[in-house]
Amino acid sequence: MKILIVGSGGREHAIAHKVSQSKLADQLYCAPGNAGIEEYATCVDIGVMDFDGLAAFAEREKIDLTVIGPDDPLVAGIADVFEAKNLRIFGPGKNAAIIEGSKAFSKELMKKYNIPTAAYEIFDSPQAAYAYLDICKFPVVLKADGLALGKGVLICNSLEEAKAGVKTIMVDKQFGAAGDRLVVEEFMTGREVSVLAFCDGTNIIPMTSAQDHKRAKDGDKGLNTGGMGAFSPSPFYTPEVDAFCKRYIYQATMEAMKAEGRDFKGILFFGLMLTQNGTKVLEYNARFGDPEAQVVLPRMKNDIVEVFNACIDGKLDRVKLEFEDNAAVCVILASEGYPVHYEKGFSIKGLESFKDKDGFYAFHAGTRKTETGIVTNGGRVLGITATGKDLREARRNAYMAAGWVTFENKYMRNDIGKAIDEA
Ligand code: AMP
Ligand code: GLY
Repeated sequence: MKILIVGSGGREHAIAHKVSQSKLADQLYCAPGNAGIEEYATCVDIGVMDFDGLAAFAEREKIDLTVIGPDDPLVAGIADVFEAKNLRIFGPGKNAAIIEGSKAFSKELMKKYNIPTAAYEIFDSPQAAYAYLDICKFPVVLKADGLALGKGVLICNSLEEAKAGVKTIMVDKQFGAAGDRLVVEEFMTGREVSVLAFCDGTNIIPMTSAQDHKRAKDGDKGLNTGGMGAFSPSPFYTPEVDAFCKRYIYQATMEAMKAEGRDFKGILFFGLMLTQNGTKVLEYNARFGDPEAQVVLPRMKNDIVEVFNACIDGKLDRVKLEFEDNAAVCVILASEGYPVHYEKGFSIKGLESFKDKDGFYAFHAGTRKTETGIVTNGGRVLGITATGKDLREARRNAYMAAGWVTFENKYMRNDIGKAIDEA
């Protein structure tokens, strides 16, 4: 098969690596790709939102399957554009990707179908939101309705902060039209777990669990980022939690979407919080997580292209997903100053150390190939993943491998996976 992967981050590198191992994959393309993905795929310079350009490329090159990495094209309906041209695509259509694209939609869905989540209210005007805040207990969580690069969630500890937050989202429109509506949500505490699941419209099969680290600094301090590291499996995701989620969350969400006429085919990502009052859904995403994919996919035993095909063809009930009985940890190497201000263009050394080493991966995110070698080209530069027989060994391996790579202004958190010591 000729397969096209759409995206350019560490997640897409992990997908490309996994697809490259499939016995069904003959030729691999990636749009736009990055310096690491080039190792397995021909990278073509077409942007992820250029649906006509991508579809024209798929038609011209007779691509058999296109796999979408990021949320933006899915929420904007890339799958519908491809399907209208009879091009095979892995990813939900626009009417199902709304589960990530609108937080108001996902909250209403959960309420209607009794899927456990935080209590909430939805507002279309700042005045109504201000009035509601006057009777709230703090902290509260404010969420811009639409996509906001993972930044549209504000945790507010006082009425003053919350009013300023409403202004930021709904009046100043810091996140653009994503802030036309606002969800005000009850603040919950507990451990977070990410579970990604393959879906074929009817059936859903969850993968092994993972946890990411969103904050920039050790001890979960600093600003929210696109993710500074991850580990899999989560020791907090016990068989009891799994049984609860299978009973009340995963299949229930699939059935709810079906009942709404929004059959979900693709990856459904459950952001869960294990609270004292049980497991609740924090958010849904309609795609693989980044950096969750970088720790989950290296542990997967199945041929991923077979699983993609089963999802598209509605035959997921014939698939048995299998994961190695091991663990993986991913440490993100970022540019000092990320996520605010950072410099780019520094030469990266040490990537050759990963060649032919089983269980060690340097997934590229913000990198660029130049005549003199690979240089830094973004805030998150590389995701260094290592496996091990258990989480502690995987963590030791990941930090060892993170030390093989050097570049000016290299920054990483030193406590990725530290939580496992508390398990
Ligand atoms: P979301 O994009 O909805 O997952 O929110 C981003 C992050 O904000 C989550 O990963 C949590 O760390 C935090 N968060 C979201 N909703 C809540 C909530 N109701 N209570 C506490 N923290 C939350
Ligand atoms: N790691 C969280 C996300 O991909 O949205």
